[in-house]
Amino acid sequence: WAGLSVLFLSGIASAINTLWSRSASRLTGRYVVGNLADLLPGSKTPVTIQTPRRGDPLNPLQAEVYLARLDERQAARNPGAQEGMVYAFWRKCPHLGCTVPWVDSFSFHDPRSGATYPGWFRCPCHGSTYSDAGVRVFGPAPRSLDMFPVTIESDGAIVVDVSQVMRGSAQNAEHGVLPSAETGGARA
Ligand code: FES
Repeated sequence: WAGLSVLFLSGIASAINTLWSRSASRLTGRYVVGNLADLLPGSKTPVTIQTPRRGDPLNPLQAEVYLARLDERQAARNPGAQEGMVYAFWRKCPHLGCTVPWVDSFSFHDPRSGATYPGWFRCPCHGSTYSDAGVRVFGPAPRSLDMFPVTIESDGAIVVDVSQVMRGSAQNAEHGVLPSAETGGARA
C-alpha cells in the first residue's frame, strides 16, 4: 500500500507540475516594437520580444516576430488583405517550431494564383512556405503562421500584444491592421 500511495502521489505531483510549467511559460504583455514611419510598405522587420518568465526573472521568454507591412502588389496577391496592412507574425513554425525566415530571393509557385514570384516565408526545416500575409501555401505545417494582435498608436508607435496568439488560418490576410491617415497610414 505504501508503494501504491507513493506512485499515486507522484502521479498527481507530476500532473500539477505539468500544468504549472505551462502557465509559467506563457508569453505576456504589450510591447512597443517600432514606429510606422520606419516600417516601409513591402518590408519585413525581424523583432525579438522578451517577456518575463514567471518564477525566473533572470531568464526571460523570447518571441521572435516579423513585423510586415504590405505594399500594393503584395496585398493583391493575398485575398482579404489591403495595401498598407500591418501584421506581427510569430516566426515559430506551426509544424515543429523551427524559426521561419523571410527569404527575399526564394522564388515559389503560388497555388492560389498560379503565378511564380520571389519573396516568401520559408521554413528551413521541412520547407513549409508562407505568403507575405503568412498564409501557408506549401509544406507539412498544419496551418498558416500564427500572429499577435497589433495596435498603431496615434504617434505611429507599433504595439504588439504577445499574450494573445491569433492562430494562423487561410484567412490570415484579413487580420492585418490598416493604419489610419493620422498615424501615417495614408497613401502618398
Ligand atoms: Fe517548419 Fe517543419 S518545422 S516545416
